[in-house]
Amino acid sequence: MCGIVGYIGKREAASVLLDGLKRLEYRGYDSAGIAILKDKRINVAKIVGRVKQLAESERIRALQGTTGIAHTRWATHGKPSERNAHPHGDCTSTIFVVHNGIIENYKELKQNLEQEGHTFTSETDTEVIAHLVEKFKKEGNNLETSVKKSLKLMKGAYAILVMAEFEPETLVAARLSSPLRIGIGTNEFIIASDPSAILNYTQEIVTLRDGEIAVLEEDGYTISSLEENRIIDREAEQVEWDLEQAEKGGFAHFMLKEIFEQPETIENSLRGRVMVDEGLVKLGGLDAVKEELRQIERLTIVACGTAYYAGLVGEYMIEEYAGIPVETCIASEFRYRKPILIPKKDAVLVLSQSGETADTLAAVSEAKEKGILSLGIVNVIGSTIAQNTDAGIYNHAGPEIGVASTKVFVSQLTVLALFTLFLGRQRQMSLTMGKRITEELLKIPDHVRTILETDKSIFEITQRYVNYPDFFFLGRKYNYPIALEGALKLKEISYIHAEGGSSGELKHGPIAMIDPNFPSIFICPKDSVYEKNLSNMEEVKARQGKIIAVATEGDDEIQKIADEVIFIPKTLEMLTPLLSVIPLQLFAYHAAVLKGKDVDKPRNLAKSVTVE
Ligand code: AGP
Repeated sequence: MCGIVGYIGKREAASVLLDGLKRLEYRGYDSAGIAILKDKRINVAKIVGRVKQLAESERIRALQGTTGIAHTRWATHGKPSERNAHPHGDCTSTIFVVHNGIIENYKELKQNLEQEGHTFTSETDTEVIAHLVEKFKKEGNNLETSVKKSLKLMKGAYAILVMAEFEPETLVAARLSSPLRIGIGTNEFIIASDPSAILNYTQEIVTLRDGEIAVLEEDGYTISSLEENRIIDREAEQVEWDLEQAEKGGFAHFMLKEIFEQPETIENSLRGRVMVDEGLVKLGGLDAVKEELRQIERLTIVACGTAYYAGLVGEYMIEEYAGIPVETCIASEFRYRKPILIPKKDAVLVLSQSGETADTLAAVSEAKEKGILSLGIVNVIGSTIAQNTDAGIYNHAGPEIGVASTKVFVSQLTVLALFTLFLGRQRQMSLTMGKRITEELLKIPDHVRTILETDKSIFEITQRYVNYPDFFFLGRKYNYPIALEGALKLKEISYIHAEGGSSGELKHGPIAMIDPNFPSIFICPKDSVYEKNLSNMEEVKARQGKIIAVATEGDDEIQKIADEVIFIPKTLEMLTPLLSVIPLQLFAYHAAVLKGKDVDKPRNLAKSVTVE
């Protein structure tokens, strides 16, 4: 996620801005930049690399002044490069903007501006904002009005800071779906994406809300609403967090913060990609291979760990709703077996959060060697897998700090549902089915919010079961991979032994393990295999096995069998994994905390496995 810092006051802005960027480094970034105004001139320094390098660069020494903006970029549009780093300027290099978020309609806005004679220097969506402000300034508007007029043309998410030589003592801030806060100092203001960049200077913080715009000058600030244009009187809050808490947004661990971010993560993965009326999806990253994808007759999905389990869910989705045979392989196996792949008929899809996993990368090379179309669903923009595949879809989930993947896993499932729709609507899927799936997809973020509200009861269940030495996680069809993922989550952060499996397989051996000391967690939503799951639960019950069930809201039957029940809202069967995994993530998290483990950095694990 990008980081934004702005300053206006009495101090040298450079030191405050660089300190703020350092506080935001935990968010993950690939480049950084700063713009400071001095004697009515704005000077800019940017770097691909770390904030420390920017702070030590020769150019930074020339940046004096008491008003400035700064940014750490986590690439979404355009690879990591100096020219894509923020701040971005207009044609005259006298107006500069930093931005966190995604402008969905930037291509259309950019084309219009280019037709009006504007020249662009970057590949980013953000640069459009600087040229829009320039356009409206030329029509005689002040900075605030120029920004407001620009924002009204933009679709998507943004937190922005704008400064301009024609109004040197002013900073304009605005937000929609991307956080922005104002620290109220003594005759100074620090504006930032999150409190960690502000708390060094003040604990008095005003949080901008969606659709609001702030105009800051040295001696004061105003907040107004973009739509009604009315002034808003907003009390500052006293933020007591220490810096470490601020980086985690007040959560105890990054993993918990990322679990609770999942509604927004799904919204970001869906943003600008769903066309309900047409029952279609827009996946710009597949435009170049659209016709090749129409022709393929088989798909091989390849990934590792949690990403592999997401691929298994995708297998069920694509086979059922796109009618294409799918095989999902563990990357470390795929690369050493003899996969039979036929050019034009086969395609390989890899999933990877980091985009650097060695085994997955090798699978891409193997596919390319055989002349097979390779696609990637990747979270890190410009990562090696993203560069090496022929086409792909970015998760737009923001950086995931916790080693155990949570929000990116759910984003992978979201993108796989979009990909299923894409392939299905190229084939036999009807408009009606396409509309049904897109409508249900758009409800998922609120369903996740509903589950997160039950965290306290999930914690209480975890307290009752945390001392058992072994667990089964069991599910069928779409939720069989979720059983595997639930077991992995518990193992990798709490170090409690857990085994994931298919409920239907129990009687073929594993049931020998069942006794009162070996609980089973069943994922048993009201779906096409519900009755089958119930009978598997009866088998466990008959052997005094304890049962925790993840079930659909309103299911009265399951409480007669299970010892504990965690409810999830009803949704399409193919989308239940996006919900059923949430309780399992929380169960694993609470178990690890109760056992005093290092939740964000579990022993023996790395966030990106770049070796075989
Ligand atoms: C995630 O919880 C695991 N730590 C791990 O299995 C991970 O999913 C796997 O290493 C794949 O990583 P990638 O998505 O970055 O390729």
